[in-house]
Formats: sequence, structure tokens, C-alpha cells
Amino acid sequence: MEKQALLDMLNRDIADEHAAIIRYLVHGYMEGEDTPLGASLISITREEMWHMHWLGLIIGKLGGEPNFTPAPYPYDPTSRATMLRSYIKYEEKLTPHYNEEVNKVDDLHIRRVLRREAWESSIHARKFQRKLDKLSPEEAAGLPGEESELPKELLDKLQAEVTSKYTEMLQHLRTSWVFQQDENMGWKIMDQAMEKMKHLAHFAEDIAEDGIRPEFKPGQIDKSIAIGLALKKALEDVQAARERHIKLREDSEVKKHSGLVINMDITIQQEEYQGAELEDWGKNKAKGDV
Ligand SMILES: [Fe+2]
Ligand SMILES: [Fe+2]
Repeated sequence: MEKQALLDMLNRDIADEHAAIIRYLVHGYMEGEDTPLGASLISITREEMWHMHWLGLIIGKLGGEPNFTPAPYPYDPTSRATMLRSYIKYEEKLTPHYNEEVNKVDDLHIRRVLRREAWESSIHARKFQRKLDKLSPEEAAGLPGEESELPKELLDKLQAEVTSKYTEMLQHLRTSWVFQQDENMGWKIMDQAMEKMKHLAHFAEDIAEDGIRPEFKPGQIDKSIAIGLALKKALEDVQAARERHIKLREDSEVKKHSGLVINMDITIQQEEYQGAELEDWGKNKAKGDV
């Protein structure tokens, strides 16, 4: 298979995995991590994250530009039962899809990854079927989400933070995949990307707990071709986010919700840590001794 055709194929697959991550994560947050269905959805989301990550690593290693636009995830939102049936259909389609792709590729690692994504998709279909079978008639007919109690203005602010953290996280994923050969910088940036996922969850969970569906729409992804520029952008982003969060923590509506205040406290301190690390890496990079 030609390299460009292979990159295009993997970039279509990454969009499907990205779509699955968002769908199961949002649904999981809406159910709540402390419910059996919510916990199971979030657990499957983690496997979809690996799927996306393996594809991204391959794309970056081949010198390609990873695609961060999620594909549409078609699902019937009428009830829990219809949603789970849509998920089963989605996963069942991916199994033959990935197996066909295995036959088009020679590289043994890529073949193993595609084959694994095929069989893990069929496991996901089985897991969703099991969840569907276990729902009570009321649960099956119902939908997640409760009465909304946070004011619209605050929800909008939290949603803006989800979008911003999500974009920063994707940006870090891109940097870690594209610059993976750059000593151990890929690893360090991936570590921060994981923390950004946690920050994103702080905001998204608060929205979902309020019965509102958090939205995952990526912003602009910077396509720096030098690691130094990518680090500079990352530092600017995290500093700007920290300043916004310090202000948001003082918001009178935020102060009424102790869970949010705790999440803001941890996010702000972690952002300070991330900023200091990035600053050092940037300096060392300039000196050429990371
Ligand atoms: Fe997957
Ligand atoms: Fe899956």
C-alpha cells in the first residue's frame, strides 16, 4: 500500500475512534461515573483512547499529520436502549472493517494494531449487548440526565473551558505523536495530555451532572513543524487557561458548588506545575540538552 493511501486510511480510522471516545465519554458522564452503566461506558472509552493513540503514533512515525476532526457517530438518542443498540451496530461494523484493512497492509505492527482494533470492537459490541440485557424496563426506556440547577451563564463558561481544554489536549497529542522521535519529549508531552484529559473531565462532569450534554468540538490545532514552537504555544495556552481559571474560581456561582471549587483548586495548581515544566523544557531545548 502506498504511504499516502495508508496515512489516509489511518486518518479515517482515527476519526472513527475519536467519535466513539466522545460518544461514550459524554454518555458515561451523563450517567455518572458512580453508576454501573456510567462506569462501563467510561471504561470502554479508555480502550477507544488507546485505539486512537496507537493510530496516532503510527501516523506520526510515518511523518503524517494526524486528523483531529471526529467522524459523525450515528446513534438513536430516544432512550438508553436505542442508544446502546446504536453502539452495538457501530462496533459490529468496525470488526470486518478493520480486518479488511489488515489484508491491505504489510507492516507487522500496523497489522497487529488493526487486528486488535477489530477484535476489541467485537468485545465492545458484546459488552454493550450485556449492558442492554441488564437494564430494567424503566432504565431501558429512560434517558440519563436530571434537573438542571446550575445557571445558564455558568454552564456556558464551563462549556467554554471544556472546549479549550479539549483543544489543548488534542494539541498535546499531536505534539507527542508528531515529535515522538525527538528524544523523550513525546513522552513528557503525553504525560501532560493525560492531565489535560483530567482537567477536561473536571469541567465536563460538572456540566453532565447537571443533566446537560457537554459538547466536544475541537478548536484550531496548531501544526508547528518544530518542537520549540510547539512548546512555546503549549506554555502560552496553559498560562492563559490558568489565569481564566483563577478568575472563574472567584465567580459567586462557582463558590456555591463545593465540588467545582475543589476541581478548580486542583486544576489551577496542576496548570502551574505544567507551565513550570514547559518553561524548563523550552529553555533546555533552546540550549539543546533536554
Ligand atoms: Fe475502537
Ligand atoms: Fe470500540
